[in-house]
Amino acid sequence: MKVLVVYTHPYPESFNHAVLEQFSRGLQAGGHEADVLDLYAAGFNPVLSAADLAALQQGKIPDDIAAQQERVTRADGLAFIFPIWWSAMPALLKGWIDRVFSLGFAYTFGPAGPQGLLKHRKALLITTCGGDQVFFDQSGIQKAIQMTVDLGVFAFTGVPKVQHEFLYNVVQTDGATRQKYLEQAYALGVHF
Ligand SMILES: Cc1cc2nc3c(=O)[nH]c(=O)nc-3n(C[C@H](O)[C@H](O)[C@H](O)COP(=O)(O)O)c2cc1C
Repeated sequence: MKVLVVYTHPYPESFNHAVLEQFSRGLQAGGHEADVLDLYAAGFNPVLSAADLAALQQGKIPDDIAAQQERVTRADGLAFIFPIWWSAMPALLKGWIDRVFSLGFAYTFGPAGPQGLLKHRKALLITTCGGDQVFFDQSGIQKAIQMTVDLGVFAFTGVPKVQHEFLYNVVQTDGATRQKYLEQAYALGVHF
């Protein structure tokens, strides 16, 4: 499958970067074609502006949004690697979705209401967390993220299969668990 990997972390020495490396190696081993979009390195502007909305309303797509939409369209699958920041995705990734998943590109309004337009077979999200699994389950925060992201973004835009993997406790856990997470990232790439 052609997979667009949207990676959101500013620090090349981060655990997220190690996850990206293993996931990319896994994709290659699985015979997939990866297009890695490093949002911080790309300097993507995440602010949906009045000028954007005015252009989109006239059916014109700003150049930087159009370039991203072309990359999204070229892929059969979407993958996202990002840390949880304040119980949500990083603002840069949220802004990328705000601007790139525009009305008429990612969704439309039909006679039966909103309708997803994305043709991808699958979206996979790999999210690292400082908190542990008990906290994420019992607080309801994981459920909230799954509702707003998996359902509210990807099911809404028409992606039939959404898989969300949470890697817990990554700040305080031991080396063996981190290693297990990296092997999991590799396997997720192979079996995308
Ligand atoms: C600004 C910021 C906000 C964070 N908020 C949360 C949070 O709400 N819940 C949580 O479990 N971890 C939170 N964390 C911890 C990160 O999820 C954790 O540092 C990251 O997943 C570790 O991966 P990394 O080493 O690649 O950054 C936060 C970290 C930062 C920097």
